[in-house]
Amino acid sequence: MTTRCLVTGAGGQVGLDLIRVLQARGYDVHGSDIAPRPDAAQLDASVPWHALDVTDADSVEALFTKVRPHRVFHLAAILSARGEEVPQRTYDVNQNGTVNVLEACRKLEVERVIFTSTIAVFGPGLPATVVDDVPLQPTTMYGVTKVAGELLGDYYWRRFGVDFRAVRFPGLISASLPGGGTSDYALFMYTDGVRLGHYEAFCRPDTRIPLMYMPDGIRALVDLSEASRGALRRCTYNIAAFSPTAEEIAQSVATAIAGVNITFASDPRRQAILDSWPRVLDDSNARNDWGWAPDYDLGAMTEDLVPKIRALIEQNPGLFDHDH
Ligand code: SER
Repeated sequence: MTTRCLVTGAGGQVGLDLIRVLQARGYDVHGSDIAPRPDAAQLDASVPWHALDVTDADSVEALFTKVRPHRVFHLAAILSARGEEVPQRTYDVNQNGTVNVLEACRKLEVERVIFTSTIAVFGPGLPATVVDDVPLQPTTMYGVTKVAGELLGDYYWRRFGVDFRAVRFPGLISASLPGGGTSDYALFMYTDGVRLGHYEAFCRPDTRIPLMYMPDGIRALVDLSEASRGALRRCTYNIAAFSPTAEEIAQSVATAIAGVNITFASDPRRQAILDSWPRVLDDSNARNDWGWAPDYDLGAMTEDLVPKIRALIEQNPGLFDHDH
């Protein structure tokens, strides 16, 4: 029987790309989100789409009972910058949403649940390169709830045998709008660079955080979901690709967009979050246990991404409009 996957938060930054890759690997994929079904250009008509508010435990259980997924990719969350505007709602979606999903996985004996954690679980005062097991003292509600999600997943695995697996994503970059992340300056250099020829980044030029191109991020999720449990010595893994300074990203963008003008005006609130995150992640456990390795460095990402953004903006000039 084909393995059935259910994706929560499927309309967000990661979901639609993940659905495409799962389909290509032969899975039967269902999407769910509080947002309406994306249009046919974004989501294949064959993919069922379910309205789901993860904060409502009964709805989560009812949907899981209807779909009976073998694997759940739990992506629904509010990101770090947006989360600081609505911390109580962020707690509800990220924290209660995750426990509701884990409970439904336990009750309905879902085989595996894959969770997206983040560099935002870390806080200030860590060494420049950060391994998996360090004190987790995040400064954002997003980070707090993601730490709790990791710990809950670990608990559900040990206590109930729910096969929980998570990656800590770096800031992810792709040709789609993330919506409310603190790492968004990196993507805006590309999107505003293409559509406007200029961008004023909300961070200092020397800001350095771990970043990753989306195709690598998606492959990490799918590879981890397919790994044999016996190979995994833990539930949550750092994964890394590259860690450029904001200035280095601007230089890379300039190699692909002639005459682009990127300037910097640091916003104290978002800068403080960026400064609290690690500069570099050590991902040796992921490399050793399930063969993780990224394909894209900064230059390869720039080469691939700029033509994609150009093509999308030609089709839909308003696609990358955003608040700063
Ligand atoms: N991209 C995320 C954010 O900025 C980090 O997990 O919130």
